[in-house]
Amino acid sequence: MQTVWPVIVGYLLGAISFSFLIGKWYKGIDIRKHGSGNAGATNTLRVLGKGPAIAVLALDILKGVAAVLISFWIAPDESWSHALTGLAVIAGHNWPVYFGFRGGKGIATTIGVAFTLFPLPALCAGILAIGAIFLTSFVSLGSLIFTGLLPIFCLVFTGVGPKFWLCIVIGILAYIRHRSNIVKLVQGRENKLGSKREESQ
Ligand code: G3P
Repeated sequence: MQTVWPVIVGYLLGAISFSFLIGKWYKGIDIRKHGSGNAGATNTLRVLGKGPAIAVLALDILKGVAAVLISFWIAPDESWSHALTGLAVIAGHNWPVYFGFRGGKGIATTIGVAFTLFPLPALCAGILAIGAIFLTSFVSLGSLIFTGLLPIFCLVFTGVGPKFWLCIVIGILAYIRHRSNIVKLVQGRENKLGSKREESQ
């Protein structure tokens, strides 16, 4: 149970959809019915503006950090438990039990998990992802670069183990969740950072 508890707590923590809650509280809207329809910080910026978006980004990152710290505390020597808790908090964010299993794409929460569990790979992937966002203004491209590079940097810095396999699964999940963004990037229809152009879904 020492291994399983952090995973359950991680999922339940991840399932707190801060973009949904802040959207409701700030403007009385369901963020999932506006902009890209994604329950995340990028869409919060698009629909509600900078302040709410920064709050969502910080809280979504923090829940990833908190879940991993809880796993360190409850199961200090169980590296598989740490990795599975990281996966669980991201899964909770993407498929939240409290909100009809319709959540976000998991990137902010992945940032929190990655910087807590494997800071050096996260930093390297993060720098390249921020560079890509800076050059193109496509947050989705940055998200794909970040999650695509994490397994490579993890392999280099930590070798094959729970952290590496977590990065592989995180990458697969991120690419699946960004299917529509990938299509729009290829077709040249993807929204740039802060653009209000996207139609409601
Ligand atoms: O992390 C989400 C971001 O990569 C894309 O969000 O709302 O533009 O689909 P969105």
